[in-house]
Amino acid sequence: SLTKSDKASIANIWSKIAPQAEALGTETLERLFLTFPQTKTYFPHFDLSPGSDQLKAHGSKVMGAIGDAVKNIDNVGSALSKLSELHAYNLRVDPVNFKFLNHCMLVTLAVHFPNDLTAETHAAWDKFLALVTAVLTEKYR
Ligand code: HEM
Repeated sequence: SLTKSDKASIANIWSKIAPQAEALGTETLERLFLTFPQTKTYFPHFDLSPGSDQLKAHGSKVMGAIGDAVKNIDNVGSALSKLSELHAYNLRVDPVNFKFLNHCMLVTLAVHFPNDLTAETHAAWDKFLALVTAVLTEKYR
């Protein structure tokens, strides 16, 4: 589980992400679709060309949900419960794809905040994304 210092690192990284949440969310998705092209099958209705309006809007939504999780770090389960139902019951996203997305988000953060992504911060953010994933995939069976 997240230690006090993990939570402090996560809040600190989030404060850097927040002003450019849409751009970083969009870059995360661009990396996801390029590196793990099978993830594109969930978005047949999207224009997935880099920088498309749909990609930006979705990047902004995904980062928005990450922000909600950061702000409710002791209660991520209830903060994201609607989103959990959506991904499990409506979208039926195979949970393996969450690992791919988390990886692409970490790469994006490492590229943009090289000085902040120390080994400790990296580990804290990784744990945090694993927690978000656990919440978003807990309704599966
Ligand atoms: C929709 C967040 C992982 C596929 C959404 C929405 C949010 C979100 C906020 C919009 C919900 C709404 O409009 O009410 C997240 C977060 C994730 C995550 C925080 C993990 C950290 C994934 C993964 C996939 C995926 C791994 C599949 C590769 C989708 C799809 C939609 C969606 C297909 C619907 C898009 C649309 O038609 O507008 N997600 N998601 N999500 N998500 Fe996720």
